[in-house]
Amino acid sequence: MNAALPPDQRADLIQAQMTQDEQLSMLMGYYGSPVQFPFARTSPPSLFPVFKGTAGYVPGVPRLGIPALYESDGPVGIADSVNMRPGQTATAMPSTLLTAATFDPGIAHTVGAAIGNEARERGFNVMLAGAINLTREPRGGRNFEYAGEDPLLAGVIVGSTIAGIQSEHIVSTVKHYALNSQETGRGVYDATVGEQEARESDLLAFQIAIERGEPGSVMCAYNLVNEFYSCENKFLLTDVLKGDWRFPGWVMSDWGGVHSTIAAANTGLDQESATGFDRQEYFGAALKQALASGAVAPARMHDMVHRILRTLFAKGVFDFSMAPPPVQFSEHVAVAQKDAEEGIVLLKNNKAALPLSPGLKRIALIGRHAEIGMMAGSGSSLVMPIGHNPADIFPVGAGVVVASTANRVMPAGLTVFDPPSPLAALQVEAPGAEIQLAQGDDIDAAVALARRSDVAIIFAQQWTTETQDVPSLALAGNQDALIAAVAAVNPHTIVVLNTGGPVLMPWLDKVQGVVEAWYPGNGGATAVARILFGRVSPSGKLPITFPVSEDQLPRPVIPGLSNPNAPFALTFPEGADVGYRWYVRQHLTPLFPFGFGLSYTSFTIRNVTVTGGDTATVGADITNSGAIEGAETIQAYAVLPTDAGSGVPRLIGWARADLKAGE
Ligand code: GLC
Repeated sequence: MNAALPPDQRADLIQAQMTQDEQLSMLMGYYGSPVQFPFARTSPPSLFPVFKGTAGYVPGVPRLGIPALYESDGPVGIADSVNMRPGQTATAMPSTLLTAATFDPGIAHTVGAAIGNEARERGFNVMLAGAINLTREPRGGRNFEYAGEDPLLAGVIVGSTIAGIQSEHIVSTVKHYALNSQETGRGVYDATVGEQEARESDLLAFQIAIERGEPGSVMCAYNLVNEFYSCENKFLLTDVLKGDWRFPGWVMSDWGGVHSTIAAANTGLDQESATGFDRQEYFGAALKQALASGAVAPARMHDMVHRILRTLFAKGVFDFSMAPPPVQFSEHVAVAQKDAEEGIVLLKNNKAALPLSPGLKRIALIGRHAEIGMMAGSGSSLVMPIGHNPADIFPVGAGVVVASTANRVMPAGLTVFDPPSPLAALQVEAPGAEIQLAQGDDIDAAVALARRSDVAIIFAQQWTTETQDVPSLALAGNQDALIAAVAAVNPHTIVVLNTGGPVLMPWLDKVQGVVEAWYPGNGGATAVARILFGRVSPSGKLPITFPVSEDQLPRPVIPGLSNPNAPFALTFPEGADVGYRWYVRQHLTPLFPFGFGLSYTSFTIRNVTVTGGDTATVGADITNSGAIEGAETIQAYAVLPTDAGSGVPRLIGWARADLKAGE
C-alpha cells in the first residue's frame, strides 16, 4: 500500500501474497444486479447483498485490501438502462457524437471528469465508457455513443473523455475493440478487413485514444475480425494491442463476448465480464482446469492478474477509494449544457431566419414530448436524467430479436426524454411569447397551430438504440410529411433535429433553418433555446457525413438485415476510406459534409502558412468579421504519401477559436 512505489512493483508485492483461487476470482465477473434477463444466467444470489446495481461486478480480495470492481456504463453518464437503481438519477451528458462535433478536447475532458466524479461518489470504480467504433454505418444504432468517422477526431475526443473520467481516480475502458460498426448481427458477423486498412482507420482511432487517454482497460467486441472472435483474437489482443502498442492494462470481454477458455486466455483476454451473459463460465473452474492441464500456462494467468492489479494501482483505485465530497449536479448539468452549446450544428439558416427575435409573440412548438425533454439514445448507455419523472419512460419500438451471443430478445425499446423541456427552455428565452404545443402526430392540428403562429419550431426525432440499426435514414413515422405540411403554411419554419446521427431531409428546401442537436442531454433544450435566440452562436462541425441517400453508402443495404442471427462476412469496400474519404474517392457529393457547420457571424482566414518537417505545422490568421461573438474551428487536411494514388485527404489537425466581434 506504499503509494510511493511504482504500480508494477506494488502489484508484484500483493500478487505474491495471493492464492491461485484468489487470483482466479479476479478474472471472472458477474452482472452486478439481480435483474433477470431472458438470455442470461442470473448472478449468484449470494452476491446480491454486495451488488450496487451496476452492469458489472468483480469480487475483490478483502483479506489483502483488493477492492471489488463496480463497473458502470457508459459513455454519456452513469447509466441505468434496466432500472437497477430505481429513483436514482444522474447527469445525462450529450451524446458522444455531439461532443465530437465540438472538436474541443477540453470540454470532452470536462464531461469525462463530471462522469467520473458521479461514478466515484456512488462507489463505482470502473466506467464502461470510451466507445469509439468508427461510424462506418450511418444507420448504426450506437453511433450516438461513438465519435464519428475520422480516427484522429475520434481518438482525440474519446481519449480526452477517458482522461477526464480517470482524473477521478477510477478506471475507464475504451470499447468495442474492434470493428463493431453495426448492431445488426453484432454477435455473429465476421468483420473482414485488410491489416493496413484496419490500422489506418478503426485501429488508429483506438491507438490515438489509448495514447491520449491511457484507459485502464480495453473491452473486446462481440463480432469476429478476420475469422476470430474479437475476445479470442491473437492479432487484435496480443500482436497489436499488447505487442505493438505495449498496452499495460487489461482486456475485459463485452457482456456475452466470450466463446472459449483456452483460446481466449492464450490469445490475450484477461477477464470474463458478466459470465451469466456467456453460454458458460469460461474463466472460472474451466480456467482452473486449463491451468492444471497445462493448456494455459501459469505465466499467462499471472499476467492477467498483474495487468488488473497494476492498473488499479496506477489509476488510484486503491489509494482514493474514499468517496469524494457530494456531487454538485448543478455544475454537471452546466457542463452538459456547455458541451451541447458547442456541439450543436447549424446546418441551414436562410435569410438569417436565425437567431429568432426574443420579441416573438406566437410560437408554434411541434414535437413529441416537447413538454418533457429531449430524446436520448437507448441501450446500455441510457441514463435516468436529473429531473426525470419515473413515469416518463416511453416504449418506442417493439421488442426485437437481435443476434448476439445469446440470441438476445431485448425488452421493448424504451427511451427517456432529458429535461428541461423544449417548452420550458424556449419560454425562458422568449418570456413574452405565447408558445403553443402540438405533439406532431396529428398533422392537421400542427398545421392549424403553425398557420396562426409567427414561427414554427419542429423538434424532429430519430430513435436509435443498442442492439438494432435503423432500417433507413428517413425520419420515422409521419415526420417528413409533418415538416412539409407545416412549412407549407408557415414560411418561418425551423427544424431542430434530435437524432442519433444523420437523417434524410426531403423537406430541406421548404424550411428556413435546420439545427442538428443530436441527443443533447440534460442541458440540451436549454442549449437549443439559447442558440435559437442567439444567446450563443452555434459552432459545431459535423463529425459524420450526412448522405443525400443511402445509395451513396459503401453498403446501401445493411448487411445481415434479413437474418441477423445467421453468421455473415461484413466487408468494407471503403477500406480505410471511412466517411468523407469514401465520398472523395467515389466523387460523391453528400447532403452535408464532414467538418461542416454554420455560424451566426462570419470569419476571415488569412496568411495561411505551412511548414514541413517531421511534424508539419499549419498556421493562419482568423478574424471574426461579423457583428457577434462566435467560435470557428479551422481544419487542416492533407493527402498523405500513402494516399498519393487516390488523392484522398485526411484530417491532420484543427484549431478552435472563440472570437468576439472584430477579434
Ligand atoms: C453491452 C454493451 C457494452 C456495455 C456492456 C455492459 O452489451 O455492448 O457497451 O458496456 O454490455 O452493459
